[in-house]
This record gives sequence, structure tokens and C-alpha cells, in this order.
Amino acid sequence: MATIRLGDEAPNFTAQTSEGTIDFHDWLGDSWGVLFSHPADYTPVCTTELGTVAKYKDEFDKRNTKVVALSVDGLESHHGWIKDINETQNTTVNFPIIADEDKKVSKLYDMIHPNADNNLTVRSVFVIDNNKKVKLIITYPASTGRNFDELLRVIDSLQLTAYHKVATPANWQNGDDCVVVPAVATADIPAIFPKGFKEVKPYLRMTPQPNLN
Ligand code: BEZ
Repeated sequence: MATIRLGDEAPNFTAQTSEGTIDFHDWLGDSWGVLFSHPADYTPVCTTELGTVAKYKDEFDKRNTKVVALSVDGLESHHGWIKDINETQNTTVNFPIIADEDKKVSKLYDMIHPNADNNLTVRSVFVIDNNKKVKLIITYPASTGRNFDELLRVIDSLQLTAYHKVATPANWQNGDDCVVVPAVATADIPAIFPKGFKEVKPYLRMTPQPNLN
């Protein structure tokens, strides 16, 4: 297992999922991706998380982002649990769940933290861009359900940087002003950012969010 760092290519794998066998890179295609692990099937926090992600499908689609979950349980268990998620969370699970019984993917992505639990994955999240590069890694403990609004917020920020040369300031929310990335010279800003900009300091240049009308 090699450490995965931001900017690395997301390691490829083939895996059985609740929607058939996937080759991860082929499955991603030209999309962005979210790979997220949870400790085990039929656990309470995970049940709420997967239900929430299913309800956010339109939001992930808007961001050209595919989602795949993982746990170290098998396919039969996944299929039974999906029925429970659909029933209790009032939704339909609409993304694949990897059945990582041999822990191949968990180990590849360092999702098992032995001092937390020797056998189960922690709540890891990897955001992967449309060039298969790892852009975000977050690790939550098993007992804390993730904030998927925050995940969407970070994907928005990453995509603004990738496509519009802006970064996002502290506590940024969609619609707020953005930071012009340092690589853009102040002299070049007017041509790139027609909505204008404010030079607070030579190194801190703010501009309205570029991808809004
Ligand atoms: C769970 O639901 O996955 C969970 C809840 C409490 C502690 C650990 C895991």
C-alpha cells in the first residue's frame, strides 16, 4: 500500500459492486468521481449517509460527478442492506457499492486505520477529477456521519479552480466572491475576469464568482 497524496493519479482497480463489476478508471470515464468508504453494512450512521447521497444524485450529476461507495461486506449483504436504506431513508440507492470482502480496494486507498479498527474501514472520502487525479482526501471517524453539503461545496470550489482560475476563501458558499489564483498576474485580470476585481492587497484579488450570470 502506497500513501495516496493530493495530485496523485487515483489507483485503478477492478471490483464487484452492487451494480456489476467495474474497472474504476473505465467507470469514471470523463467524469469527476467520489469514492467513499463506510465501516460496515447494516450500521445506523452509514444507512443515513447512503440515503442522503442517493437523494443528492441530481446535485452530483450537475457537477458531472459519479459516486461509488465501499464497504468490506459482500454483495448479498449489500443487496439486503440497500432494501433497508430505500425503505428507511425513503429513497432509491442509485450508485454502486463496492463489495470489498478481500479488502483489496480498502488497502489500496489506506481506508483501514488499525488503531481505530483493525478490520473495518473508516469514513474516507476521495474526490477525483476528470483527469483521474486525487483532489481531496478527508477522513472521518466511524461515529461521525459526513456532511455531504460540504462535499458538494468542495467539488464546486475544485471545479471553479479547474475551469475558471479562481480559488475560494474561508467559509465560501456558492455565489460568494472568489479569489483570483496567484498564478494570474494582476495585469491579466481584466481580460480573464470581465466582471471586475478588487485588489485588496497585491496578493489578494477578489472577483465575483465567474460561472454565475
Ligand atoms: C455506524 O453507524 O457506522 C457507527 C456508529 C457508531 C459507531 C461506529 C459506527
